[in-house]
Formats: sequence, C-alpha cells, structure tokens
Amino acid sequence: MIKAVRGTRDLLPPDTALWNFVEATVRDVFRAYNFQEIRTPIFESTELFARGVGEETDIVAKEMFTWEDRGRAESDKGQSLTLRPENTAGIVRAYIEHKMWDRGLNKFFAIGPMFRRERPQKGRYRQFFQIDAEVIGPPSSGSESPARDAEVIEMVATILDRLGITGWTLQLNSVGCPADRDRFNEALRKALEPVVHQMDPDCQRRAVTNPLRVFDCKVPEDQPIIEKLPRISQFLDEPCRKHFEEVQAILRSTGVEFQINSRLVRGLDYYTRTAFEFTHDALGAQNAILGGGRYDGLSESLGGPPAPGIGFAIGEDRLVLSLNKSPEDVSRPPDVYIAPLGAGMNREAARLARELRKSNSGRGNPGANNNLIVELGDENFRLKKSFEAADKLKSRYILIVGENEVKANAFALKHLASGKQVTVPRAELAARIQQK
Ligand code: HAM
Repeated sequence: MIKAVRGTRDLLPPDTALWNFVEATVRDVFRAYNFQEIRTPIFESTELFARGVGEETDIVAKEMFTWEDRGRAESDKGQSLTLRPENTAGIVRAYIEHKMWDRGLNKFFAIGPMFRRERPQKGRYRQFFQIDAEVIGPPSSGSESPARDAEVIEMVATILDRLGITGWTLQLNSVGCPADRDRFNEALRKALEPVVHQMDPDCQRRAVTNPLRVFDCKVPEDQPIIEKLPRISQFLDEPCRKHFEEVQAILRSTGVEFQINSRLVRGLDYYTRTAFEFTHDALGAQNAILGGGRYDGLSESLGGPPAPGIGFAIGEDRLVLSLNKSPEDVSRPPDVYIAPLGAGMNREAARLARELRKSNSGRGNPGANNNLIVELGDENFRLKKSFEAADKLKSRYILIVGENEVKANAFALKHLASGKQVTVPRAELAARIQQK
C-alpha cells in the first residue's frame, strides 16, 4: 500500500470543517483590518531563502526541500529550486518584482502550505499550513511606525478571540536595529570565547558564523551557558528602544497582555526590532501557535528599495489543535434528504434539488453560503433504505418524490426528529424546510 509520506498528512472530513471555520474567520478579520490576499508560488529559487531567511538558520541549513531543475531550456537548467519553508521572503520578492511601493502601504495576507524537513511529531509536520500576514511599504507610508507593530499584534489577539482560543501567552522582545545587532554579536562572541569549546559542535559553528543563532541551540547541556549570555535589550540604541516602548504602550492601551522575553530571537535572520510569539500550553512541546516580527532590511537584502515591514505567520495545524471546538460545532448536517421513489423519479428529484439548493436556508454557517443543504438519493433505493441514509447523514427532513407527489405537485415532507409528516406544495417547500 502506498501511504502519505512521513511528516505529511491527509486532512479529512469532518475535521476539514474546523479548517474551513478557521480560514473563514481569519478572512473576516483580515477584511476588517483591510488586509488583501496575495498568493505566491509554492516553490521559489533557493537563493531567495538563502538571502532572505539566512544561510545559518536551521531552516536554510537543514530543513529545506531543494532540488536542481531538470528543465530543458537553457535558462532553467541546473537552477536550484526550493519548496517554500515560509512565505515572507516570497511576498517581499513579489513586492519588489511588481514594484508595489507605488501603492503606499501594502497589507497582505496569505494562506497555504509550507515545507520543512523537521523531525515529525505532534504539531510538527513536513508539510504544514501557515496563515500569514504582512504589512510592507516605503518609509513614507508609515510602514516603520510602532503603530503598525501594535496593530498587527492586536489583530492576532482578535483572531484568537474570534476563534474562541483562550489561554494563550504573547511573548515580546526587540531584537534591535542592525547597528545594535553588530554590537550585540560582538559582545556574544566575547562572552562565548572562553566557553565555546564546551558546546555542541553545531552551536560552536554558530558561535563563529552568526552568534545570535546560538540562542536557537536546543542541546540541554548548552542551556546553562546560553542562560548566562548577554541580552539584546542591553544593546538597544535610543530610537530602537523608543520604538519598542511605544509598541508596548499602544498594546497596553488596547488591553492586549504580553510578557517580555529577552531571550526571544526567532529562528530567521531577517528580523529587526519587534519580535513576538504567541504560545499555548495545550500544544505540548511545539507550543508556538505563531511567530512574527519586523524585517526592515529584508527588501534591501533582496535587491529592493527600503521597505520596512512587519508580519506574522500562524501555524494553522497548531491553531486547529488548540481550538476548543468539534467539527459539529462549526458545520451543519443536510437540511433535507430527497428520496426519489420508483422509476423515472431521479429526474424529478434532480429538478427539485436544483430548486432547493438555490434557496436560502436562513441559517448562518461560518464560511459557507446560507443555501439549503440538499442530499439526493436514488430511485432504486427502497423507502426504508432512503430513511436509513437520511438518518445516517443526520438530515433534518426527508422529502419523498414519487409519481403521485409529482402529479399533485405537492410532496411528503417528514421532520426526522419529531416524526411529523406534512404534504407541502412545491412552491412552499423551501420556506417550510427553512423552519426548525
Ligand atoms: P516561524 O516561526 O518559522 O515564522 O513559523 C511560524 C509558525 O509556523 C510557527 O509558530 C508554527 O506555529 C508554524 N510552524 C513552523 N514550522 C512548523 C512545522 N514544521 N509544523 C507545523 N507548524 C509549523 C515564519 O515562518 C515567519 N515567516 C513568520 C513571519 C511573517 N515573520 C514576519 N512575517
């Protein structure tokens, strides 16, 4: 038997109703904050991630699905391509490619699969989904303002509230401006010098090439060393510190609670200033539902003009895991099961189903239109089998379409829970089914 590849999985009904609920809710919130959808390709040139995310990050150094293109055209041959491990680099590439600075401040969102070759476990997959939001534009558009940071973070809190997710913690830090980073890296190098030989070989390499990445070392024996290292907060220059303070002040004024975590550096190199993560205890070891931050120099490092930006990506798989809901809470069963009875009745039933499916059900269902949900049986089924099928689907009504009903243009409609049966003229069927 051929199975789904390790670290990938099928999302099946009824659970997909939860995914639809999440996506419909976030789309609603994005609309309220005036974010617009962007869709970028699932694979990009490898160089984009090497330059954008950073060669020394775990993502680029160990986790990317990369291959050499076998295309025949000279221009394709040998090109190194990569399945996107994240969406920010691709969105900034698109911003530059389409000269989107002409539009002022851009507020994008994107929903789609990402790929990282990580060790699979609960909440960690090799194909996973992110809900991504980015605010980016030329400095003149206000893209650099702490108001943008606070708005984006407050939007996350709104999303979680709207989904009914409680018990989250917001961790906040500033990873500094580039000049602060240089001084911080220097201080880290100095602090690591006497102890680096005791560390895991991977951490040793980081200590030399990109000391900030030492904070990503997961080896337990190295943690006491990491614990004693200097913190970036000690190196923030005045504008950077002010920016961070203003972000906090706006968050306080909107009532969004946060904790300062001065060890939070995030696993991607493009971050500057604000960095944040929302965690949730119910998730276990992989407890970050989402992460984000500012990336004021990313556009320039990809060859674009200055375009400060800030954004985040929610791990949708983890978000669904932390939902306090079951698929039944966010979807509804069919309103009516149409049971054609006897030869030639499939045609009549199909016509009726088409009419009813165009009618409004009068019931709200997040993410779906409100039309009646109609199931269609088969004229070869005996009535008993149709009833069993309707029951199994938890349909509210069953509608019998037999020769007599068609002649009379009125149909037997039975409410399955109460057992009450009435004969309803065709023109009144939809209205009747809309009733509870
Ligand atoms: P990230 O922290 O690498 O940031 O990923 C964001 C979220 O994606 C994580 O918090 C987690 O919920 C989810 N995630 C990451 N890896 C996996 C995995 N293997 N399985 C399941 N979920 C996973 C970024 O990707 C940045 N692009 C976020 C960003 C946007 N920063 C600024 N704008």
